[in-house]
Amino acid sequence: MSDFAELILEGKSYKLPIVVGTEDEKAIDISSLRAESGFITLDSGYKNTGATTSAITYLDGEEGILSYRGYPIEELAEKSSFIEVSYLLIYGSLPTAAELDAFSKRIKRHMLVNEDMRKILDGFPSAAHPMGILSALVSSLTAFYPESLKSNQTKDEMDLSMIRLMAKLSTIAAWSFKNSNGQRINYPKNKLDYCSNFLHMMFSDPTEDYEVNPVVVDALNKLLILHADHEQNCSTSTVRLVGSAHASLYSSVSAGISALWGPLHGGANQAVIEMLEQIKADGGDSKKFIAKAKDKNDPFRLMGFGHRVYKNFDPRAKIIKKTADDVLSALGIKDPILNIAKELEQAALTDPYFIERKLYPNVDFYSGIIYRALGIPTEMFTVMFALGRLPGWIAQWKEMREQKEPIGRPRQIYVGENTRKYVPIEER
Ligand code: CMC
Repeated sequence: MSDFAELILEGKSYKLPIVVGTEDEKAIDISSLRAESGFITLDSGYKNTGATTSAITYLDGEEGILSYRGYPIEELAEKSSFIEVSYLLIYGSLPTAAELDAFSKRIKRHMLVNEDMRKILDGFPSAAHPMGILSALVSSLTAFYPESLKSNQTKDEMDLSMIRLMAKLSTIAAWSFKNSNGQRINYPKNKLDYCSNFLHMMFSDPTEDYEVNPVVVDALNKLLILHADHEQNCSTSTVRLVGSAHASLYSSVSAGISALWGPLHGGANQAVIEMLEQIKADGGDSKKFIAKAKDKNDPFRLMGFGHRVYKNFDPRAKIIKKTADDVLSALGIKDPILNIAKELEQAALTDPYFIERKLYPNVDFYSGIIYRALGIPTEMFTVMFALGRLPGWIAQWKEMREQKEPIGRPRQIYVGENTRKYVPIEER
């Protein structure tokens, strides 16, 4: 293969270098195109644009492959813990037993949140969506750790910011839940592992400590691992873009949380359950809703179906579907919306509209059913996604800063009015 692409513009030839990744992914490097030719490329939604090179996550949407730092997602979900995967994503290799122990201990040590943050929390009405609280409180960490604002942080200072965020997000997430049901917040307990601690902060109350159920802990661990990174998706690109202006880790992740909130992205897990409830309330006729999803005059979409990069079964959805079955049977829960979900999936997988467009169930289609079985309310689903995605955002922010990437600043093609003469208001 040639190591350059040739582009002919207005009769002049330009040689553009070809970049090949370790999994043979190919790109045309256009970084000198504008300076040499005056042309830019136009790619709405960045469907064909690589924003960076990255050594964190590999994803092949056609084949349904996902790996973190070279390790297949199936193996990590089966054998690893969320904290181990977080270390892998952030530092690049699987930890030794001593490294994992030190990492977990550091996270535990930083789980407490400054008491003054409770005053900010108290200012939110109980109807506030927990994603809004999460984003605001993460951004407010800059006020408690102003050294995080330095754009020339040392490696150790950056590392401390990352550990603090890994530690505090689960406390803040549980607080945002307690705020929504007007309950007293719980403090973390160091004797508990990461997932058990989160469940304790969510579900213990002054009358009773949450009794840790290993089935629930295992399912939560898997869900967090499956969400931990997904290369340059909308929220991760947001984190990298905001961070490219040398904004702090906390502000960058706060922006990522806001991006994740959208129903076309992480908000889809909440939207899936709302859709399944809507179908149930309407009599449970899944065919009617499949027809609505196909009707171009109807804005309804099958939430939890389709993906920008997966044109095959989302490998995470395969694992989650099995976990949903396991969790519901282990907990003895019969959820009627699981049957509706299975019917929808079956109908969509055999319908030419979905087959032609390669629309398969994505990670969010079944995750909400598991969260529901674990007792997590619908409004918290996207918060759970954020908790899982955090090590990915941190790893991507760190990589972006270590690669000394320039500030992100896309171009545009202007299609507005040409220069006009200003008309005074009385003459308009
Ligand atoms: N239901 C019905 N039709 C759909 C759906 C759907 N869920 N998704 C895509 N289509 C159709 C779409 O109308 C279009 O049809 P046509 O070619 O006739 O115009 C075609 O499939 C391609 O869709 P697109 O909107 O151009 O694809 P995209 O890559 O821009 O969007 C998506 C990807 C995920 C935003 C979209 O599939 C969607 O809205 N899905 C529902 C929301 C959802 O589940 N999001 C979670 C994604 S996974 C979690 C994450 O990583 O964020």
